[in-house]
Amino acid sequence: MEKKKFYITTPIYYPSGKWHIGTCYTTIICDALARYKRMQGYDVFYLTGTDEHGQKIQKVAAAANTEVKTYIDGVVGELKKLWKLLDISYDKFIRTTDEEHMQAVQKIFTKLYEKGDIYKSQYEGWYCTPCEAFWTKTQLVDGKCPDCGRPVELMKEESYFFRLSKYQDRIQKLIEEDKEFLQPTTRQNEMLNNFIKPGLQDLCVSRTSFDWGIKVPFDPKHVIYVWIDALTNYITALGYGSDDDSKFKRYWPADIHMMGKEIIRFHSIIWPAILMALDLPLPKKVYGHGWLMFNNDKMSKSKGNIVDPFILCERYGVDALRYYMLREVPFGQDGNFTNEIFLKRRNSDLANDLGNLVSRVTAMVAQYFDGVIPAPDKKEAVDDELIAMANAMYASVTESMDKMYVPEALDTIFKVIQRANKYIDECTPWILAKSEEGRVRLKTVLYNLCEVIRMAAVILQPFLTETPEKIFKKLGVSEEELKDFKSIEKFGAKIDGHKVDKGEQLFERIDIQKELKVMDDILEEQKKQAQQAQKKAQEKEEKTNVADINEITIDDFARIQLKVGKVVECQKVEKADKLLCSKIDLGEGAPRTIVSGIAKYYTPEEMVGKQVIVVTNLKPVKLRGIESQGMVLCASDENGNLALVTPEKDITAGSEVR
Ligand code: MSP
Repeated sequence: MEKKKFYITTPIYYPSGKWHIGTCYTTIICDALARYKRMQGYDVFYLTGTDEHGQKIQKVAAAANTEVKTYIDGVVGELKKLWKLLDISYDKFIRTTDEEHMQAVQKIFTKLYEKGDIYKSQYEGWYCTPCEAFWTKTQLVDGKCPDCGRPVELMKEESYFFRLSKYQDRIQKLIEEDKEFLQPTTRQNEMLNNFIKPGLQDLCVSRTSFDWGIKVPFDPKHVIYVWIDALTNYITALGYGSDDDSKFKRYWPADIHMMGKEIIRFHSIIWPAILMALDLPLPKKVYGHGWLMFNNDKMSKSKGNIVDPFILCERYGVDALRYYMLREVPFGQDGNFTNEIFLKRRNSDLANDLGNLVSRVTAMVAQYFDGVIPAPDKKEAVDDELIAMANAMYASVTESMDKMYVPEALDTIFKVIQRANKYIDECTPWILAKSEEGRVRLKTVLYNLCEVIRMAAVILQPFLTETPEKIFKKLGVSEEELKDFKSIEKFGAKIDGHKVDKGEQLFERIDIQKELKVMDDILEEQKKQAQQAQKKAQEKEEKTNVADINEITIDDFARIQLKVGKVVECQKVEKADKLLCSKIDLGEGAPRTIVSGIAKYYTPEEMVGKQVIVVTNLKPVKLRGIESQGMVLCASDENGNLALVTPEKDITAGSEVR
């Protein structure tokens, strides 16, 4: 029988180099789901990768004095190291700078253009460079970027637009009617009320203000802007738009697009609209998970409060980190990471519950049966509950995984592990070992325990990647069929006769207070480094600004319009000691009103009749309620003297100064 397919994706990551445990959340969740499905016999394709175009990355590379691609290659190398460390079992790592992706994106863009779903127009908006986002004036908060609070620039440029508005009704219907499409369900109303119902605007999908991107094939001064380039990775990775689209035919549509909640809008509105325009089937599910916070604060490299996955894995093991991420974060909601909870979880669940169970049981098999797992013999009622729980485990975990309730799945497994520990206390093997009859019963008790441990190890494989194999070794289980999901559908596999190997503890207990101190020191050091880096960046920026002032190009100078003007009227500005308000003839018909801070140096009478130099293309400003339509040039020295700059001889009002 042909295997069923399962296609799961993470978003493609910005090569920002700010890797922290939050960054790992999406990939670890997807990894557990992918591994689970693989073990269930699905033909899984798990995709991840990097989103490498855009102005931001171009600027970062320039600041590092490195060619963009070389810079990104380095960062991507680090990211791949991280995924390797975390045992992320992706099937493909796509980079948006891959030649096949770029060619396919160009084909897609052309197709949409030819269909009339992409058209050329003018774009005007407020642009935030760090966020690579355009905003309308009403979206700005105090004139700044609503996302990051940094200054924005007004930009106007010729752009291509995607006709998103055309798909308004179909998108609304999709979210309203296909309740499975967007999960968790709370996100559905959020999208409908905040974005879809107020009306979808056509989307700007090209830029001319930078060139680090895929060129519009029929108009190469434009580069294709982020979302068409980025979102389409989910199909180009499968060969869509290439000579070999067999994978696309096999795996599309995606079964799950997994992502953090901040990018749901792009995946549940823009992406389906692009697919509709391409006449392609829609993904089955878009899932937006919450964020992982650190001490209830957003992790950020500049704050220095990031938790470094490399350090955590090195000190406490990859499984401790995977376990925490999968267990502790309520799926769909924000989760919190604290060193204390992390260390406590590791001690209580992994070292105490799981580790102790395995070492106690293998030690008893070694002590009472020369290390050979005995065959079960005499049954008792006390066995029933443990066996029933072990028998129900697989179905229950599968049900949770199907709903993507990953913490709940782990909870079920650990309840069985805890039950097994309790079973030891109930059966008191050390007393059974003392009598002949007791030793007969002891066979069953230890077999039951070994079998429950094996079943737990089998089902833990998608979640933990090192520990299950260690457990199999301890139980002497090497047969693949005893590591398979099929083997845990029913308690009672043939493991008697296997030779156990007690070996080392699975998880050494940690001295939490001591480790907390170590972790705090690491955090302090990180914060110090972040502060130093910020200071350095600031100094660099200041230096650059000085350099900017010292050297401008002729083009910079040409942007300033200077003209000769004649003061025709002048008076003091009421209640303002320093200001004079002049009417200045610039040969434009009506004179301009210009307010200057020169009242301490010139009287209004002195001003009238003077020829002055005026900056005429300065944006008007209101001073004391008067709109000033330019600026009069003056020279000033350190002794507090000020002199108007005037032409050396009379010249026609409005003459240009060059
Ligand atoms: N490049 C875009 C995605 C384009 S997909 C067509 C992007 N990249 S990202 O690097 O910023 O984010 C990648 C993933 O990491 C997202 O799912 C994001 O939500 C996730 N996380 C980054 N920090 C996170 C936390 N602190 N917590 C949980 N996940 C977070 O967005």
